[in-house]
Amino acid sequence: MRPKIICHMIGSIDGRLLSNRWTPLTEKAEPNTVLRVYDEAAQRLNADGWIVGRKTMADLVSGTTHLHSTTDTSAPRTAYIGNRQNRPLAVAVDPSGKLHYGTDHIGNEHLVAIVSEQVADDYLAELREDGVSYLFAGTDGLDLEAAIATLGSSFGVETLLLEGGGTINGAFLKADLIDEISLLIYPGIDGLAGIPSIFEYHGTSADELPAMGRCLRMLCVETLAADILWVRYAVDRLPAP
Ligand SMILES: NC(=O)c1ccc[n+]([C@@H]2O[C@H](COP(=O)([O-])OP(=O)(O)OC[C@H]3O[C@@H](n4cnc5c(N)ncnc54)[C@H](OP(=O)(O)O)[C@@H]3O)[C@@H](O)[C@H]2O)c1
Repeated sequence: MRPKIICHMIGSIDGRLLSNRWTPLTEKAEPNTVLRVYDEAAQRLNADGWIVGRKTMADLVSGTTHLHSTTDTSAPRTAYIGNRQNRPLAVAVDPSGKLHYGTDHIGNEHLVAIVSEQVADDYLAELREDGVSYLFAGTDGLDLEAAIATLGSSFGVETLLLEGGGTINGAFLKADLIDEISLLIYPGIDGLAGIPSIFEYHGTSADELPAMGRCLRMLCVETLAADILWVRYAVDRLPAP
């Protein structure tokens, strides 16, 4: 069975994701309240790690390219598990292998790259030298179902938090890989049309419905510090019409 995926996000009341644009909390709130509340809620979900899109991970790592001499793609495309030491996972979906890590961890979490089978052997060598684990999402790097299945079978993951941004959340939504939504509603507003929201699936036509066939069932709701609301929904699959 594939791991359970909980999409854990914080957004403004209009569902926007860029926190530097939100109206401020009341003066009573301590600095770092939002991050603390977000992390504490994540801890309570008891996951084996988290997964983000390439752009969100780029803000968290800053390694440099290693020097190699070839761009072959002839080495076997099998998952590589570095020295994980039972740590939780920090997973990036990076189809083209654009990220450079320079380390095998973020905090206490062991880094894992999900890449396409077309990335160069040199890039895989760089990941191994950095101690980063990796696995494949098909030839184009977009087979999220296969990648998530490998996280279950090869890394023993049972539950993962999907933590954005909107683009990778939208891809998981379209692929019907989200089992639960854990939404923190920040008591503030962005207000500008077009600012990224929680799900940003880039469809091919305006009448696509990436969440079709599912409905949300409330699990619980709680008021946290600074009037941040925590709402959890199960994503139920509807019977075929
Ligand atoms: N408020 C919050 O809770 C929260 C949480 C996370 C992030 N954020 C914010 O969101 C922003 C980044 O979000 P984002 O949506 O631009 O980027 P993202 O979801 O972090 O990353 C998008 C990238 O993921 C890769 N990708 C892998 N598989 C994909 C697939 N099946 N379909 C589409 N893309 C796929 C693509 O990389 P390639 O371009 O290399 O192909 C794509 O450009 C940042 O500003 C961050 O601060 C907010």
